[in-house]
Amino acid sequence: MDTIFTARQLPLFASNTISTTQFEKKFERSGTFGDNMRLPVHRWFRYSAGYSANWVETLIKDKKQFVSNLAVLDPFAGIGTTLVASNVQKIRSFGFEAHPFIYRIARTKLRAIELDDREAIELYDEFFSTVITYTKQINLPDSPLIQKCYSEDALTDLITLRDVFLSKFDFATPYSELLWVTITSILRACSTAGTAQWQYVLPNKTKSKVLAPYEAFKDKANQIISDIQYTKQNNWPQMAQLIQTDSRIPSFNPSEEINFVITSPPYPNNYDYADSTRLEMMFWEEISGWADLQSRVRQYLVRSCSQHSAAERLELETLLEAPVLAPIREELADACDKLATIRLTKGGRKTYHTMAAAYFKDLGDVLHALNSIVSKTAEMCFVIGDSAPYGIYLPVDRWLGELALEAGFSSYHFEKIRDRNTKWKNRKHSVPLKEGHLWITR
Ligand SMILES: C[S@@+](CC[C@H](N)C(=O)[O-])C[C@H]1O[C@@H](n2cnc3c(N)ncnc32)[C@H](O)[C@@H]1O
Repeated sequence: MDTIFTARQLPLFASNTISTTQFEKKFERSGTFGDNMRLPVHRWFRYSAGYSANWVETLIKDKKQFVSNLAVLDPFAGIGTTLVASNVQKIRSFGFEAHPFIYRIARTKLRAIELDDREAIELYDEFFSTVITYTKQINLPDSPLIQKCYSEDALTDLITLRDVFLSKFDFATPYSELLWVTITSILRACSTAGTAQWQYVLPNKTKSKVLAPYEAFKDKANQIISDIQYTKQNNWPQMAQLIQTDSRIPSFNPSEEINFVITSPPYPNNYDYADSTRLEMMFWEEISGWADLQSRVRQYLVRSCSQHSAAERLELETLLEAPVLAPIREELADACDKLATIRLTKGGRKTYHTMAAAYFKDLGDVLHALNSIVSKTAEMCFVIGDSAPYGIYLPVDRWLGELALEAGFSSYHFEKIRDRNTKWKNRKHSVPLKEGHLWITR
């Protein structure tokens, strides 16, 4: 087998190192997760549900001026944007994430600060030596999805990377997890399949730019090493603690006062977080198909998509009886009844009526849990968006605000940042929507 590069070539990383000034220039723009793809450590894995690290840093910088001993919590930590940004700002932080695959990515990124770049280079070297001399039979996956997403050559190389990792390098250490995240993060770039805006894989849509796996791996490894060096040069401390837990019933005892919550919960917009990592989880054989997404991922998450509420066979009346829903029960019941009726005219397909009720119950539970975790002077910023399934408007900002008051907080206000659904002709309904920050105080 021809080697694309030899193990000895890997240490030639230095030229790829990005200077502080280059990064600082890029900090000037704020926006969505796309901007994070230019920032060290944040850029290891593209997560379209993520938000801007730059924005988080700005919030923390502002808050630091007024609050001593600032400690931040993100109860929907995703791939760790808030926690990495808090480390950059040298602020103590905590995060909850319930999606096991996303949690693993975030944990790997956060531990990078503690790693020695030379040891990481040695491990990459050893790994590649093994990959290029690997002679064991490769069995290509039977999965039609995986077969559809890759050429045979690309799949052979990717499965070689996977099998070498699983058979010889899966030590579950922060170093070996770098290999795992490197392989995971190149899976989309090496696929011929497209990716939808919300990260769902589109096997029937082919894209033109497809990377060769060993080259992609090498580039990503270079980037990761370069970022580890960057964290050292810039003295990033490790002040973050990430916990794999369900923020509706978190297993967490704060070791200190938490006075700032920065987070973005799922929106009730039918986005399926489990589906967003379907390709990656199938590649690693953590699931074998759609059906496994419920048992492996969704059951731990806030119910924000109809696949989830349908799988749980939820009863609307029972959901609406939940005490946490008291302040919005009447309005919510009205919206849910409308959704249940419209559903019948649409072939009874989408269970938006139970999704909406379960969503607000879940967020009510999260707010109650937060009320007993955060300090008496805490402030919370929730990045939220409203939605209108089947054209029935759900006023998420007001309803979550009311649920926060019920949970024990004293005030809320909403700050709009953008309008959504303004290109009417492309949408299923014409209800204007918005996205913004829900500020909640004690
Ligand atoms: C909008 S994303 C947050 C992304 C994050 N701000 C970032 O930049 O990576 C919402 C996250 O909440 C997680 N999540 C959903 N339900 C959860 C629950 N009950 N407990 C903890 N995390 C949950 C999802 O897996 C997803 O990663």
